[in-house]
Amino acid sequence: MKKFFLLFAAVLLAHTAANAQTETPDPLQVRSWAAGCANCHGTNGRAEPGNESLAGANKDDMVKKMLDFKAGRKPATIMHQLSKGYSDAQIIAIAGYFAAQKK
Ligand code: HEC
Repeated sequence: MKKFFLLFAAVLLAHTAANAQTETPDPLQVRSWAAGCANCHGTNGRAEPGNESLAGANKDDMVKKMLDFKAGRKPATIMHQLSKGYSDAQIIAIAGYFAAQKK
């Protein structure tokens, strides 16, 4: 299942990247996407107690959760709406950003 998912994510990413003519999104661009999560998940993903921290979390895990929110497979109060505002490639890039932050 995990293997299948990774393959799926890689294919999606390759596909979108090919369409956009860019291999990797600009890190500054990714940071500004991730800043949109800071209100709730804290600056650089280090959340106040009571909210989920994203800093240092597992990238594949975050991508899976975001794609599950987006597809309505994972129940949510707000993330199912928010996740729809990002392409799959953006989600992969944002998850990579948070995974690289110190906890
Ligand atoms: C308005 C507040 C808000 C914003 C903005 C927000 N989130 Fe969330 N996030 C939540 C809440 C609340 C949950 C718990 C699930 C739910 O109820 O929707 C959550 C859950 C999550 C989870 C699952 C955490 C876990 O381990 O279960 C991930 C991953 C996540 N958010 C990523 C993001 C990313 C990436 C962004 C920016 C693109 C973002 N969130 C922006 C409020 C927010």
